[in-house]
Amino acid sequence: MTKTGFIFDLDGVIVDTAKYHFLAWRNLANELGFEFTEEQNELFKGVSRKRCLEILLDIGKVEANQEQFDRWMVEKNIDYLQYIEKMNASEILPDVPRVLEFLKEKQIPIALGSASKNARPILEKVQLLHYFDFIVDGNNVTKAKPDPEVFLIAAKKLSVHPENCVVFEDAVAGIQAANAAKMLSIGIGDSTILSEAEYNFKDFTEMDTRFLEQLINR
Ligand code: BG6
Ligand code: MG
Repeated sequence: MTKTGFIFDLDGVIVDTAKYHFLAWRNLANELGFEFTEEQNELFKGVSRKRCLEILLDIGKVEANQEQFDRWMVEKNIDYLQYIEKMNASEILPDVPRVLEFLKEKQIPIALGSASKNARPILEKVQLLHYFDFIVDGNNVTKAKPDPEVFLIAAKKLSVHPENCVVFEDAVAGIQAANAAKMLSIGIGDSTILSEAEYNFKDFTEMDTRFLEQLINR
């Protein structure tokens, strides 16, 4: 049997941090004098912090010099950190611990593949860090999703061939990144938005043990 590796995205797959990213971006938008809606926040999922600010400034039609751009990136993150500071295990998305526990029992290697530079402190806060053999996050990549870099680095760390890796993702850019890496992409969330995924689940409560076993033995 070939060894299978599992790679989890963080924001929107393990924890619902999209709401905190939204609040922090909205605070910045309001400060700069324009509105930012939850609908527009959809565009930010899976996307790097730098790219998010570029999109935000486009939305508000705000011009920025390098100094302002850098300052707003820092400002947004300081604000975001205040929200995640209060996070605890109650914010883990449904059945994530069940799936991690199942994989761990089967001794399946697990990595995180996230665009966030805050991944490690968030996993610590929700007490899930110990499940991950490797963390690959925004601090380790030069190219953002949909580029496959983050997942290819994770596969290398897991010592698993990319084609034998399974990726759980909630963002279109993340599904595209997994597909580009030739990994099996599994969409967690709205299947109409994540239609490019190989399989779709609303959340992990819909994913039974038999399906997980199939993934391991495929
Ligand atoms: C992704 C989120 O996981 O991380 C994006 O889906 C976010 O919305 C990106 O912009 C970067 O996160 P951070 O924590 O480094 O600002
Ligand atoms: Mg995500």
